[in-house]
Amino acid sequence: MKTIGVFDSGFGGLTVLRELLQLIPDARYVYLGDTARLPYGSKSRKTIARYAVSSARFLADQGADLLVIACNTATALALDDIRAAVPVPIVGVVEPGAHAALTAAIASSAGTGGSRVIVLATSATTQSGAYTRALNALGLRSVEKACPLLVPLVEEGWLHSDVHTSVTLEVLRIYLLEALEQAPAANILLLGCTHYPLLKPLIETTLKNLHHPMQIIDSAEATASAVAALAMDSGPGAIVMPDRVFYATDSIEKFQRLGSAFLRQPLPPVKLVDLGG
Ligand code: SIN
Repeated sequence: MKTIGVFDSGFGGLTVLRELLQLIPDARYVYLGDTARLPYGSKSRKTIARYAVSSARFLADQGADLLVIACNTATALALDDIRAAVPVPIVGVVEPGAHAALTAAIASSAGTGGSRVIVLATSATTQSGAYTRALNALGLRSVEKACPLLVPLVEEGWLHSDVHTSVTLEVLRIYLLEALEQAPAANILLLGCTHYPLLKPLIETTLKNLHHPMQIIDSAEATASAVAALAMDSGPGAIVMPDRVFYATDSIEKFQRLGSAFLRQPLPPVKLVDLGG
């Protein structure tokens, strides 16, 4: 069985790990949240690539023989750099997310021709145009909306208490209204950041309040399926015991606390690692 390395800038990637644990429970997992250098989404391509490559190298050093880049920003801006630096099979989240949107469009009454996708993502991801390219290649029309405030709101855990959610709901309302101005007939909402699935209930409330129902897609499930297929294709890895090891580059107590909520199960003690600046 494989050692699967899962990398995200924070703990949003745990939404992908949650799906992986269902699909491939026997693997050994090593997860890295680069919490010291988060958020990636407001940084330059060069910086994102440097952070992502050092994170991927760290996971390969921990024995990962398959890597999941469970961070949209790192996938959109640094997938080629990571592939060049780390010689193991690598799955990003953009292609699986685009395919999940295609499946939703085919199943919708609008079909692929009539569907319009709004992609919510970080500033760096939207500027890269990676989702537009991936969706257009599948025959889907899309609009990308940068939502720089959402990752900090998720990382701060502003998802539950009334006073916090009122702020988060207002931020979501503004972003969604702005996106809908550009794509008034949009019927599919693609969550182009692995932090955003945590906002799904609040996004649903916002869409309801705006009287604009949309199908909400996140790439976690589709990514886990792509990983399972690749794990099968790339043959058996070294013999390993099923295990889960968690590393973060900062704030391990917070990672432990919020990570358990993301993963919906208690985390073993999170290890601190220093990957430099
Ligand atoms: C971020 O670090 O800004 C967000 C990560 C992502 O795009 O999934």
